[in-house]
Amino acid sequence: MKRLLFLLTLIIYSVMEAQDGALISIETETSALVLKVGKNKKLYQTYFGTRLNNGSEYEFISKENTKKFVINDGNPLIDLRHSAYPTFGTNNLFEPAIRMTHNDGNPSLELEYQSYSTEKIDENTAETIIKLKDPQYPVFVTLHYKTFHKENIIESWSEIQHQEKKSVMLYNYASSALHLDADKYWLTQFYSDVVEEMRMEESQLTRGSKVIDSKLGVRTNMFAAPSFFLSLNSKSGENTGEVIAGSIAWSGNFKFTFDIDNNNELRIISGINEFASEYNLEPGTVFKTPSFIYTFSNQGKGQASRNLHDWARKHGLKDGEKPRLTLLNNWETTFFDFDQTKLSNMFEDAKTLGVDMFLLDDGWFGNKHPRSGSTSGLGDWQATKTKLPDGIGFLMQKAKETNVKFGIWIEPEMINEKSELYEKHPDWVLTLPNREKSLYRTQLVLDLCNPKVQDFVFKVVDDIMQTESGVAFFKWDCNRMMTSAYSNYLKNQQSHLFIEYTKGLYKVLDKIKSKYPNLPMMLCAGGGGRVDYGLLNYFTEFWASDNTDPFDRIFIQWGYSNFYPALAVCNHVTSMGNQSIKFRTDVAMMGKLGFDIHVGGLKEDELKYTQEAVANYKRLSPVIWKGDLYRLVSPYEDSRAVLMYVNENKTQSVLFSYTLHPLTDPNYGLVKLNGLDPAKRYQVKEINIMPKGKAVFEESGTVFSGDFLMKIGLKVSSSKGENSVVLEITEI
Ligand code: DGJ
Repeated sequence: MKRLLFLLTLIIYSVMEAQDGALISIETETSALVLKVGKNKKLYQTYFGTRLNNGSEYEFISKENTKKFVINDGNPLIDLRHSAYPTFGTNNLFEPAIRMTHNDGNPSLELEYQSYSTEKIDENTAETIIKLKDPQYPVFVTLHYKTFHKENIIESWSEIQHQEKKSVMLYNYASSALHLDADKYWLTQFYSDVVEEMRMEESQLTRGSKVIDSKLGVRTNMFAAPSFFLSLNSKSGENTGEVIAGSIAWSGNFKFTFDIDNNNELRIISGINEFASEYNLEPGTVFKTPSFIYTFSNQGKGQASRNLHDWARKHGLKDGEKPRLTLLNNWETTFFDFDQTKLSNMFEDAKTLGVDMFLLDDGWFGNKHPRSGSTSGLGDWQATKTKLPDGIGFLMQKAKETNVKFGIWIEPEMINEKSELYEKHPDWVLTLPNREKSLYRTQLVLDLCNPKVQDFVFKVVDDIMQTESGVAFFKWDCNRMMTSAYSNYLKNQQSHLFIEYTKGLYKVLDKIKSKYPNLPMMLCAGGGGRVDYGLLNYFTEFWASDNTDPFDRIFIQWGYSNFYPALAVCNHVTSMGNQSIKFRTDVAMMGKLGFDIHVGGLKEDELKYTQEAVANYKRLSPVIWKGDLYRLVSPYEDSRAVLMYVNENKTQSVLFSYTLHPLTDPNYGLVKLNGLDPAKRYQVKEINIMPKGKAVFEESGTVFSGDFLMKIGLKVSSSKGENSVVLEITEI
């Protein structure tokens, strides 16, 4: 048995003592990251880019005198420029990935290469682990690189530990350091604010450092998204150019530093934001950083997005390959004003629309301090007797009788002062002991560093799931960031707060996921959105924005589409904006469709249209959810937006075209389609047409070759403002 285990280990692991000068190549189908051990035992990155056909030629990249990379073994200005995990305190002159103070007060760290291993996890996945150690101190860093071959994704993170007598103080602890050599660098960043999420901005990086970060503590992407594109040499397009897409899987404060040095070389340091977060690391404890997820595309941003979508559906998003539930939400129709009769009638509305589920939003809980507005009740998760005398169990039953699923809203990380929970546990909130409480939306943040609070939050979900048949879905809201934050639980280790809060949240979510593995949940944060690949490990989807005006929403959804697959982006048809029901529904259909409207208020033809659109959506959702996304015309460059999804075997596609508000007749030209099979023949049919309405696409029903559609294209857009066209494209 022992012998067998030994043999197995030999097969699975290849632990290599890379000699000085040896290369460590970390490859996916089309990209490669290459590291090299210098004569000085330091580890360098010599390459990141398109994979070479002949792996032995990576060696030439690191030969002296090549333009790309030089190991000089002596001059710190050259040597440490491409350090795989730059340290601080000796001779690194650039942004460090790690900085610490040892027990004896020495503020320096050196990391020497020790060994590496590559484990093949399955046909598509492998993990390379590189061990580094300080020659003077018992401090160990392992660098992890997990590759997803077909999806061309690398996940990298680091693990830091030590065996000094007492804890060391960590000041920097990046997940990854990535080096690039190009003439020019173009950064696309995504900025947000309440009702203005994921707006895109591209600019050329200049010498010095550019930082994109968050200091909000919780729901951290309110102002900035934890994702970026970085194009090399020139701006990349949807289908052309070399580009890196990166995203950090961390739901607390994050930070990307883009640092261009005196030699015009760029290093990207990614990870947790170390701001106000120096960390006391106990001996023997592993500090594991979150994954930095990245991909390299030499075919523009479109391919980079598709790589991320493919990876997310299989590995980064909870139940990424499973279907989603279409729904009717009551929030914008009722706000806090409902009772059980009103809600039961809305179950019928959901049925009428043809959606799968009714989602009960905010306002169903609190008795001593009923949740009749946003000022009270948060924390008291018992149904309000005056509104729901028979409790949520009754609603579950009723929904079942109506044959619709039942979902529910919670905001379990938050509390109102006007709540029984606050009366009982004032020490459970994050507030400074000797200053005014800092309220936002009249609420405070619970202290998830505290295990008792973690248990409480888990119980919020567990209790609901244990009531009657439980719910089919949670909408998990989070409507404020941290301000004046202080944890009673952490006492004199306040600099751990931002990190421990996030870890506490993950602990709760781990528990929920393990007890209720098939429970779909939507991430939500009023304005600003809340999404990152740390939380998507637990959530099937996220609420993109409270801004549901379809004109604005197109930009918001466009922004998210760069990093997240369509089935994760929840879009609801609401009454916001004055656009037609068709336009609003067509826009929402670009992602995961839902409704938040007064169904009884729809005119006969509007209702008929909506019902047909839901049926179309159900038929086409496998293409939208699992297909490859091609963004054809950007709303940032035109007065319209056009995009399409194509299924894996290129037999089915859906195209969405939205005309926004052109000032004069734009005389739109033909749009070349993408992703189809040139040899196949496709029928192009306009769907989602209002009853008694006319097709906008004049050739609806015509059959074209994929070749024609991609080389010549179609006139897919109307020039009339607020006009949308949905085309179903099917191989015949
Ligand atoms: C903010 C969310 O974005 C809304 O959809 C709604 O759930 C409210 N919170 C409820 O308070």
